[in-house]
Amino acid sequence: WVLMKTARAPSNIAVIKYWGKRDEKLILPINSSISVTLDYLFATTTVAVGPSFTSDRLWLNGKEVSMESERYKNCLQQIRSRATDVTDEKTGLVVKKEDWKDLHVHVASRNNFPTAAGLASSAAGFACLVYALAHLMGAKETYEGEFSAIARLGSGSACRSLYGGFVKWNMGKEDSGRDSIATQIVEKDHWKDLVIIIAVVSSRQKETSSTAGMQTSVKTSPLLHHRAEVVVPKRIEQMEQAILKQDFATFAKLTCADSNQFHATCLDTSPPIFYMNDTSRRLIGLVEKWNAHEGTPQAAYTFDAGPNAVLFAPNNEVAKSLLQRILYLFPPAADADISKYVIGDQSI
Ligand code: DP6
Repeated sequence: WVLMKTARAPSNIAVIKYWGKRDEKLILPINSSISVTLDYLFATTTVAVGPSFTSDRLWLNGKEVSMESERYKNCLQQIRSRATDVTDEKTGLVVKKEDWKDLHVHVASRNNFPTAAGLASSAAGFACLVYALAHLMGAKETYEGEFSAIARLGSGSACRSLYGGFVKWNMGKEDSGRDSIATQIVEKDHWKDLVIIIAVVSSRQKETSSTAGMQTSVKTSPLLHHRAEVVVPKRIEQMEQAILKQDFATFAKLTCADSNQFHATCLDTSPPIFYMNDTSRRLIGLVEKWNAHEGTPQAAYTFDAGPNAVLFAPNNEVAKSLLQRILYLFPPAADADISKYVIGDQSI
């Protein structure tokens, strides 16, 4: 027999960024962060167990990869230790609580967006893995947010992908990481008019992973420590208020400022890390000039550890105008499919 479960989890984009850990193994951050869930970018993961499986195995986008990494092992072990008796609805098959530790899992996960191009594929992937495994093994949370703490062991930003809408990852204080969990600020319907545009600048893999990049920043960037201790705590409060009030002007200012400070921190790292490219910078210029011309923010931008932009507009009308401006600056071929258009990829 084989028992299977499939789940889907969204990606998320941080508007107040997480960059730097205080504990590498438990993935505990040096500051809290806030994200917006990106429903259209998601991972779909199928997990299966059966007595004939002789080892834990993992396939990412159809290609087998090692499951030997501590991150996978930690997530799996945490869910396994919370497994309960499970009865399969279709077949009536029963897997007892004590049997799960001897059963190996096979995991197959797919993203509907470019992996590791700075669109938080690891966030969607680990959130999905934890959620699917918990369902398969009948694991239940013993406190609210516990699954987000387990997803965090896979990748920090993954803890924010277990919720929809606007999500805050509280850095927490405890050494165990028990209180370093995500909580939902508001559901996405709270701010129905907000439009998110993803401008894919390159679908290439990034050169410096977030994990390695933030390690170097923690060791070498004085700006990072100022950011985590002084700047971010204030911004977290202001951002939460802006979201609750649907105050686009404040949301936009904080989002752009935080993205820019995160990239400044990368530049302040030794050796410096560059995630944005010329196309990214031209997009920033477009938004900044437009906002300055109108005297109030029309749009906002944010960039994670890659050159792709996530852009925000307060409503559909402004979003259309933003899109027109982008296409004017980066004219696609006449027959291009705009939904798949990679801006500026010709430069690579
Ligand atoms: C720039 O969550 O990918 O996207 O915890 O080492 O797996 P690890 O890093 P990861 O870092 C994300 C960094 C970021 C900002 C953010 O999502 O908050």
